[in-house]
Amino acid sequence: MADVTTKIAIVGCGPGSPQYVTEAARNAVAVADALVGSQRLIDLFSESPPDRIMVGPDIPDVLQQMVPYLAAGRTVAVLVSGDPGLCSLAARVIRHFGRRQCHVVPAVSSVQAAFAKAGLDWSDARIVSAHGREPNVDIADLGGADKIAVLAGTTDAIQWAAQAATALRATHIVLLAENLTLDDERFRELAAEQLYETQASSLSIVLLIRRTLWT
Ligand SMILES: C[S@@+](CC[C@H](N)C(=O)[O-])C[C@H]1O[C@@H](n2cnc3c(N)ncnc32)[C@H](O)[C@@H]1O
Repeated sequence: MADVTTKIAIVGCGPGSPQYVTEAARNAVAVADALVGSQRLIDLFSESPPDRIMVGPDIPDVLQQMVPYLAAGRTVAVLVSGDPGLCSLAARVIRHFGRRQCHVVPAVSSVQAAFAKAGLDWSDARIVSAHGREPNVDIADLGGADKIAVLAGTTDAIQWAAQAATALRATHIVLLAENLTLDDERFRELAAEQLYETQASSLSIVLLIRRTLWT
C-alpha cells in the first residue's frame, strides 16, 4: 500500500518496456495530481493526470515547479527510469523536499536487465555511472572486479567505457547492452577497441566481465 501521508511519489518505471512497469507504479501515478518526467516515461502511463512538469537539464526549475502543488496539499509523482535508487533524480528530490515528504516506488533497474541478459549473478558487480559526467574512478582500480557495469548512455560515457575496456582487455570481455527490454534491444560482445567507433544508443550499458566467467 502506498504511503498516503507523503505528497511526493518517486516512481521507478523500469528499463523502458511497459511490461516492466509495476502495478505499484501505475497506482502511484493514478492517484497523483501532477506528473514529473520525460515524455518517454510519461508515455508509459496511458491514464495519467493532465498536469505535467517536463524534466529538462534545469533541475532546480523542475523542483521549483513542484512547489505550488505541494503547497496546495496536492500530490506529485516523479517518474524516473529504472530503479530510483540508482543514479536518478530521486536523490535530488529527497534532498530538496525532505525524506518525510517522499516515498519511493522501486522498480527493475537497467543494470538488473543487463545482467539478466548476460545470465550472470550481479551481487558482486561494480556499478559505475559515466552518464552525464566523467566517473570519479581510477580505471586501474577496476581490474580487481569480476563484473563491472558502466551506465554509458552518452557519447562521452561510451568513450570512457572504451578506455576502461581497453585497459582491461587482457582480463575482461566487453558486452554492450542497448535499449534493454525495448523492441530494438541489442546485446552483443565487442572487441574493446570497437567501442570507440560505436554509435551506441542513449540507453546503453557496457558490461566488462572477467574472461574466466564468460564460458
Ligand atoms: C540516469 S541513469 C538512470 C539509471 C536508472 N535509475 C536505472 O536503474 O536503470 C541513465 C542510464 O541508465 C541506463 N539505461 C536506462 N535504461 C536503459 C535501457 N533500457 N537499456 C540500456 N541502458 C539503460 C543507461 O546507461 C543510461 O545512461
